[in-house]
Amino acid sequence: MTTEIPAPEKKRLYIKTYGCQMNVYDSERMRDVLAPLGYAPSETAEDADLVVLNTCHIREKATEKVYSELGKIKKMKEATGGKMTIAVAGCVAQAEGAEIMRRQPAVDLVLGPQAYHKLPEMVARASRAVGDRLETEFDTLEKFDALPKTREVDGPSAFLSVQEGCDKFCTFCVVPYTRGAEVSRTVDDITLEARALAAQGVREITLLGQNVNAWHGAAPSLEGGAEWSLGALCRHIAKIGGVERIRYTTSHPRDMDEDLIAAHGDTPAMMPYLHLPVQSGSDAILKAMNRGHTAEHYLKIIEQVRAARPDIALASDFIVGFPGEREQDFEDTMELVRAVNYASAYSFKYSPRPGTPAADMFGQVPEDVKDERLQRLQALIREQQTAFNASKIGQTLPILVTGKGRLDGQLHGRSPYLQAVHFDGAESLMGQIVDVEIVGASLNSLTGRLPAYAEARA
Ligand code: 5AD
Ligand code: SF4
Repeated sequence: MTTEIPAPEKKRLYIKTYGCQMNVYDSERMRDVLAPLGYAPSETAEDADLVVLNTCHIREKATEKVYSELGKIKKMKEATGGKMTIAVAGCVAQAEGAEIMRRQPAVDLVLGPQAYHKLPEMVARASRAVGDRLETEFDTLEKFDALPKTREVDGPSAFLSVQEGCDKFCTFCVVPYTRGAEVSRTVDDITLEARALAAQGVREITLLGQNVNAWHGAAPSLEGGAEWSLGALCRHIAKIGGVERIRYTTSHPRDMDEDLIAAHGDTPAMMPYLHLPVQSGSDAILKAMNRGHTAEHYLKIIEQVRAARPDIALASDFIVGFPGEREQDFEDTMELVRAVNYASAYSFKYSPRPGTPAADMFGQVPEDVKDERLQRLQALIREQQTAFNASKIGQTLPILVTGKGRLDGQLHGRSPYLQAVHFDGAESLMGQIVDVEIVGASLNSLTGRLPAYAEARA
């Protein structure tokens, strides 16, 4: 006689993700760990049995958005007679913990980024209304160990988390407090996950970490067991059949070692794109930020990276209006941007985060000055980005086809330089890398044509 194991009751899950790619990755994993409990994705929060807000604490605005969203979700919960479970995950959860439940009592559970593998248990407990509702302890490796090794992927490009946390303590940043100390995942673990992704058709893997180039680990014994840095890990992953493209994000200039720079030149799978935040071009501000590098040091690294891979697309993050930033400091930032000539960049107004050293520094910059500087910086970045995109017109680039475009018969994909590309082509090309001739460019994307396809249709 066989005993039927009842299928789990069908329930709906809605996850709203804020902030960085680390959170996008974590949301995918939360979906995976909840699937065995019968949770399937829901299109809207109203219809969900469980709503998770995966939050970002990087700027004050991001945190306030979470509280205003919680106000709306509370009303939906009331409409269900209180049956909906509300969870707050991510960095606001880590930083503000129990405060969230005090500010919004409709929240059932709060869990920090190191506790996602405990989510099913916490959800079960919350639905029985027992047990602790707060899980924000740091046990990163345990988290990596307990997550399922295989996961559903959507399309030919996937993220793979290799490192978490940060020990750099930039004086403006909450990450070292919310994500804990730098921890690297083991080579074996990463290899298993990369192979599983490749087996599901993934062609492009983006290695993720708050300080991804601080990753280090013992090489497999077959390879001599020496200590590896990220360059060696990238070369290793490039050997996995099916993996044709490797990216990594986000890096710190202090961890940009020679081997990683060399890998950009000697490993064709390493995509010619580097996001290397500098934050400011002024040495006085960089010092006050505790960045541990000068503008000159940063420019030297850029020079070495360009020597290894001349066509590399460079990206960065900038903060304007950090405490004490004078007009001349800001001009130094503009000068650095002119010197590097970026393919794209993110720029933010400084936002004081409670508990970080910079929040209490003298010389906070007035909002209107920050606004004006941000506009000047963004205008320059837009100019560089438009020029970078335009420089690809006339070239034929290998494009990874990631999906259907907005228009009928259109596909979209990604260039080696991380540019979005739209072109007409057959749906059967999805998931493949095809040669596309670039015929147009704008600030945010390229348009292309598949020579053979265009001729066949003519
Ligand atoms: N204010 C403004 N921008 C910030 N960032 C991090 N903390 C702050 C802050 N307090 C920016 C940095 C970082 C990016 C992820 O967010 O530029 O690289
Ligand atoms: Fe934050 Fe600095 Fe760490 Fe980046 S390196 S996560 S900006 S503390």
